[in-house]
Amino acid sequence: MLGPLILAASRSDKMRRFVSAAPGTKQVVARFIAGETVDQVVPIVRDLAGKGLELTLDVVGEDITTVEQSYAARDAYLELIERLKELGLGERAEMSVKLSMFGQSLDGGHDLALANVRPVVEAAAAIGTTVTLDAEDHTTLDSMFAIHEELRKDFPQTGCVIQAYLYRTEDDARRLAANGSRVRIVKGAYKEPAEVAIQDKSEIDKAYVRILKILMEGEGYPMIGSHDPRLIAIGQELARRAGRKLDEYEFQMLYGIRSEEHLRLAAEGHRMRVYTAYGTDWYGYFMRRLAEKPANLLFFARSILTK
Ligand code: FDA
Repeated sequence: MLGPLILAASRSDKMRRFVSAAPGTKQVVARFIAGETVDQVVPIVRDLAGKGLELTLDVVGEDITTVEQSYAARDAYLELIERLKELGLGERAEMSVKLSMFGQSLDGGHDLALANVRPVVEAAAAIGTTVTLDAEDHTTLDSMFAIHEELRKDFPQTGCVIQAYLYRTEDDARRLAANGSRVRIVKGAYKEPAEVAIQDKSEIDKAYVRILKILMEGEGYPMIGSHDPRLIAIGQELARRAGRKLDEYEFQMLYGIRSEEHLRLAAEGHRMRVYTAYGTDWYGYFMRRLAEKPANLLFFARSILTK
């Protein structure tokens, strides 16, 4: 019951102001957000890479309201890529981007987001890495998939995300598996209506397995985005049955969640990528993490009350 309420709050400016100003917030946010600046995230990138983990870096932010903010988002990623180049970490870290941060929801936003993300994808390719387009709410997905297809003409390694809770996703998975895409599959983190999305958790898990099977049997590169132990075990089994070698798929988990599992999978020889978010506009990302596990909300409430 709490999850949908928290997701509704993630879109409220009033709640954003309240949560951001609450004493104790920063301490809880730090569990999921690796820092506010590039300088703060660099030691974490080094540390994770040193432990044999791969990374995908996300400069947090979404739903911007001005064109200038979309340019700032592009520039933040370009600065990050420049730092990765200096550090020689280009091949260990890819980037995850939310197109709404690149202007997708503004007037003429599709073209603006494409124009903003292209130089980021180019800069990433120049240092030997790539970009994955995150999946946001269902109204944004046709545009995201069209941008993905456009970028892949020059940069075939560009990835995208599909969400198991959406009814449309099995069809998307078939199309993407046939054209050899890099695809991250996740359960889905937004508040979606019953007309477009499965609401029952165990049905979402079953859909996840069906979709992952399509990806594993296809021509692309599946990226299993989940912390769910059952889905991780099923992912390993589906990869084995599809005859995939360890470097023909990967696992992905979020920074701050089940960190010991990141290390266990890497030690088993799996490619394990940690989605590492940083930046100042952390509110939406943070609230989705609270919604996924109500116990996080209790921890958060306690830390506010004891400050
Ligand atoms: P589930 O929610 O069942 O969690 C399984 C277990 O993991 C829990 O029992 C708990 O132990 C732990 N866990 C999970 N979430 C936790 C949390 N927040 N705090 C503490 N423990 C937690 N979604 C989306 O819509 N678009 C996207 O682009 C992405 N991108 C993305 C990238 C990566 C690398 C991951 C791992 C996830 C995403 N997501 C996402 C989020 C995804 O849709 C989903 O909401 C979360 O991964 C939670 O689902 P799980 O599969 O982990 O299972």
